[in-house]
Amino acid sequence: MVNTVLEVQNITKRFPGVIANDSISFKLNKGEIHALLGENGAGKSTLMNVIYGLYKPDEGQIFINEEAVEVQNPHDAIARGIGMVHQHFMLVPVFTVLENIVLGSETTNGPSLNLRSPRKDIQKIIDQFNLDIDLDTITEDLPVGIQQRVEIIKALYRQVDILVLDEPTAVLTPQEVDDLFKIMRSLVDQGKSIIFITHKLKEVIEIADQITVIRRGKVVGSAKPDEADQQSLATMMVGRDVDMHLHKKKAEPKEMILEVNNLVVKDANGNVEVDDVSFEIKAGEIVGIAGVQGNGQTELVNALVGMIPTESGTVKINGLPATNASPRKVTEMGSAHIPEDRLKDGRVLPFTIADNMVLNTYYLEPFAKSGIRQQEEIKEFAVDLVEKFDVRTPSAENTASSLSGGNHQKEIDAREFSRPINLLIAAQPTRGLDVGSIEYIHHRIIEKRDEGCAVMVVSTELDEIMELSDRIIVMFNGKIIDTVNADEITKEQVGLLMAGVTA
Ligand SMILES: Nc1ncnc2c1ncn2[C@@H]1O[C@H](COP(=O)(O)OP(=O)(O)OP(=O)(O)O)[C@@H](O)[C@H]1O
Ligand SMILES: [Mg+2]
Repeated sequence: MVNTVLEVQNITKRFPGVIANDSISFKLNKGEIHALLGENGAGKSTLMNVIYGLYKPDEGQIFINEEAVEVQNPHDAIARGIGMVHQHFMLVPVFTVLENIVLGSETTNGPSLNLRSPRKDIQKIIDQFNLDIDLDTITEDLPVGIQQRVEIIKALYRQVDILVLDEPTAVLTPQEVDDLFKIMRSLVDQGKSIIFITHKLKEVIEIADQITVIRRGKVVGSAKPDEADQQSLATMMVGRDVDMHLHKKKAEPKEMILEVNNLVVKDANGNVEVDDVSFEIKAGEIVGIAGVQGNGQTELVNALVGMIPTESGTVKINGLPATNASPRKVTEMGSAHIPEDRLKDGRVLPFTIADNMVLNTYYLEPFAKSGIRQQEEIKEFAVDLVEKFDVRTPSAENTASSLSGGNHQKEIDAREFSRPINLLIAAQPTRGLDVGSIEYIHHRIIEKRDEGCAVMVVSTELDEIMELSDRIIVMFNGKIIDTVNADEITKEQVGLLMAGVTA
């Protein structure tokens, strides 16, 4: 017997200028992994926030176990058995795992926290679902995949039956994704039900029992994974054919743009993160930096763009010294940087989208003249970029914080691609983007290369590295383990190098 644990009927949610959810209906069955697919800005997170009580729907009805309910707030949602792991985590970095799990439902013993009985209950949950975690570790010291597990345990500790996972795989390594999928299977095997949001169609086909697709706030279709393929899902999502393979001509490298010699970068605790790294990138070529997250790529990029200091070694951009140059100096030397963490670096969320589009050029002509801000110029520039890069927003005057997850990324990409540059350093440039937007950004990257830009792409997505790169540098343990021409190596071989295996 099919048992519907959650149903929404005709949910509509409006924001000023947008209908984020336009009469959405959908059902979640017990023991099911239900994938929710849709373009950036389609309304997925909004719908989940409605179900979780963060937003009140303007119209429509929610049923839990076939009973009509009004979910007042997240506390109420949890009490009704619905838990959510957000697109951006909400843990306290300096708390232990145990403290984070208990936070919000803690009991006290006089002035001190009572952690003894929660510890027992939580350990039971960890064992039951094979969640393998040390409760006494400080949360910020854990890899992202394990931090996410903390969020899941937090929900399970509150005895939820329905779990909403909003893009849980966007920041995970392939190994972590496998581990998460094992956990998800173990959850549904024991009667939990899961709504799973992702932009990776391969994952949907692998793990989902049922698929619902939304576009511009409306349900446009549903599918069973065994009857669907990536191409048909992509078309349903975006509403047009998406070319999932990139076509590019052979690179014609020209003059030297970036030269890195014997670079060493240490973290705040003195650990060597980048270990004697040397490489060069010429105009007209794309060099991909492959590696499992945490092998020094982040620190390499941050050192190159002036966000963290280097210990030793040299960097030259266009033949000029750029070791330990400030971010503004690096920018002024003709380079663009797409940062890995789109919410923390490179943007000011309470500012308008327009202001963020000129965040590193606002003081230059035509946006300022004799120190006076040129409002019309800024507006025109921003409106044009919003349209070209399809940043989904009713107005460039809205705050950056109102954007959906993937549209944050599109906003940064738009800004960084639209300045006269000859060096592009792009860290995870398509993280969280839908297939149509990935296609668009990849074309822009190739275009930059063909205009004579030197391009460095750092990505943990092996497919992306393989598609874009002319040369591939693989990092392992802070070192360059190998540099290869992209057309002379297979994906499997790069995968082995990423794991530290050399021939
Ligand atoms: N708090 C808000 N204020 C104003 N507009 C909002 C707000 N939250 C979402 N929106 C708008 O609602 C629409 C749907 O956004 P939502 O975050 O639900 O998209 P999404 O499908 O989750 O996209 P993504 O894949 O990029 O995460 C977007 O146009 C977005 O700009
Ligand atoms: Mg979202």
